[in-house]
Amino acid sequence: MNQEILHVVGARPNFPKAAPVLHALERRGARQVLIHTGQHYDDALSEAFFRDLAIPHPDINLAIGSGTHAGQTAAIMVGLEAIVFERRPALIVVYGDVNSTVAAALVASKLGIPVAHVEAGLRSFDRTMPEEINRIVTDRLADLLFVTSRDAIDHLRAEGVPREHIHFVGNPMIDTLLAHIDSFDPESQRARLGLPPEYAVATMHRPGNVDSDEAAAMVVRALHEVAGLVPIVIPVHPRGRASLERAGLLGHPGIIAVDPMPYTDFLGLVRGARLVITDSGGLQEETTVLGVACLTMRPNTERPVTITHGTNQLVTPAGLMAAARQVLGNGAPLDLRIPELWDGSAGERIAEVLWAYTRDIQEAK
Ligand code: UD1
Repeated sequence: MNQEILHVVGARPNFPKAAPVLHALERRGARQVLIHTGQHYDDALSEAFFRDLAIPHPDINLAIGSGTHAGQTAAIMVGLEAIVFERRPALIVVYGDVNSTVAAALVASKLGIPVAHVEAGLRSFDRTMPEEINRIVTDRLADLLFVTSRDAIDHLRAEGVPREHIHFVGNPMIDTLLAHIDSFDPESQRARLGLPPEYAVATMHRPGNVDSDEAAAMVVRALHEVAGLVPIVIPVHPRGRASLERAGLLGHPGIIAVDPMPYTDFLGLVRGARLVITDSGGLQEETTVLGVACLTMRPNTERPVTITHGTNQLVTPAGLMAAARQVLGNGAPLDLRIPELWDGSAGERIAEVLWAYTRDIQEAK
């Protein structure tokens, strides 16, 4: 009997990355176990994605919830260790750069279980971002590293990862986008929210933008300026809600704040937008493929391919208005080049490598 492949997911951005890998392995008849750490637990950040993306119900939910970085990471490790110790899977697959990712990689490698990292090698070179620390540690421990772009290969090689451990497979989150694109319906979102034909969408949840009142005030001032040009819909992430509201986010008639949205509704809204303003990682990639202009309010990005090939630009809060004016004043279609291998088949490529790897382990026994 083939040994099981254990997947660990925990937070919203993990789910669209895991879905195509789970489905492609399912088609091969792999034995799989899905563990949800419970890092995200609100229906809108978790269960709604499982429904939309037809991800199987997790076999186990550790329900660890929120906490400090150490508290959350440690709780995931303790919960997961007992499961991995008992099940002894052939391989553990981790996704992206959230605390659940690094916690699972630490548990697996200390128990001698090979780790596969999906979305390896991205680097912002900014260690003030918790995700950057999670990426570096996870990649250091991983045995199989699946990368979405060529720059990631260079980063990993520079850190000493052997070339044969790195697999350039494309972007599984874009598999999910392409699989669902026909159900992204801007009209229904516009009607539901009472929007005019031209509108913007914003998301803000990075600690650097929302954890201090000073940063939140700068962000809100910048968003209010743009809201004078075009209405902005903001699905407000729980992390930034309090500070953004204290900074007066809701005090402009052009700001339409809503709760976090399910996957298909949100991408329907984004697909019809003239402009996206964000500090999310995934949205930089999704706008690149949807051909929607993206202004990323961060000093750096770990996804430079969205700038060189896609629709993305980095902006400061002070520079947002000028950049938004330029985008809104430009009626010409954006010059789009879809990044290499962002073609809807990344999950298949990842599954192929994982499948061969577990078969080799089996045969070696
Ligand atoms: C996490 C990821 C981040 C990712 C983001 C996407 C880390 C270090 N960060 O950030 O990379 O971009 O998810 O959403 O892993 N909360 C709720 N309900 C929930 C989950 C969280 O209300 O279901 C609130 C809690 O107050 C919590 C706060 O949001 O303290 C932050 O949650 P946490 O998972 O620690 O980090 P995110 O900011 O969501």
